[in-house]
Amino acid sequence: MRNRLALFDSGIGGFSVLKSICSRHSNFSAIYLADTARLPYGSRCKSEIREIALEISEWLNCQKIDAVIVACNTTNSLALDVVQKTLDVPVFDLIGSAIDLIRTSRIGVLATPSTVSSTTYTSYIKTINPLAFVIEEGCSGLVPLIEKRKLNSLQIKEIAANHLKNLLKEEVQEIVLGCSHFPLIKPIINELIPYNINLIDPATALSKRLDEFLGHSPSDLELIPSFPDIQFCVTSDPIRFTSATKQLLGINPKVELISLRSKSCVL
Ligand code: DGL
Repeated sequence: MRNRLALFDSGIGGFSVLKSICSRHSNFSAIYLADTARLPYGSRCKSEIREIALEISEWLNCQKIDAVIVACNTTNSLALDVVQKTLDVPVFDLIGSAIDLIRTSRIGVLATPSTVSSTTYTSYIKTINPLAFVIEEGCSGLVPLIEKRKLNSLQIKEIAANHLKNLLKEEVQEIVLGCSHFPLIKPIINELIPYNINLIDPATALSKRLDEFLGHSPSDLELIPSFPDIQFCVTSDPIRFTSATKQLLGINPKVELISLRSKSCVL
């Protein structure tokens, strides 16, 4: 029997995590939940994020799942314990995984304002290197534009450049993409930073952390991602989401509109 993973995010950000997992593993099925009704999460306060995380976890408790992937850094930074306490399956997170990829001691983190205010990235990085210099840059403008899928727009370039400037002037050697939406604009970010700065996508490490759980040893060659058996659920606007799956994943699934409060089972 294949394991069934549950991934959740506020919107399409978790696609970057799904892609990364599917580039390494193929022996799983999944349910992907996007809480599109409450997007963006990144400027919400801690209590709201924790309340939402509880609702999502309780809903996931009604699904047939074997593990949860928190594909949202904002939830990860402010409410990982809520998810862990509510669900009795293994929980894989992006921030905990990111530290597997840190190689230098001057690290910039580009994330949502709520993630930055939690300073969770700094705390995790300091556990592996107490002397590391970590600067976190909060960025609220990118997520709504990425959700509109204008991934190459001038506006995205300008906003990204503005925020990256604050990290570059601190001479960081690595930049962590601390919001799962940001790997979707990785080509733009790469153009805006010097070639010798390493961009870290925590989903790469998370995918590796799944090796043991998914019970096989993948080759280090990346698979061409295919998305065979994935159920997509949203809390609003399934039509817009279907067009996002077409554009970004190249698939045309049936997207279900669900109510998190109803806790009705989607099996
Ligand atoms: N993609 C999520 C994250 O990694 C949430 C972004 C948002 O909704 O603001 O933080």
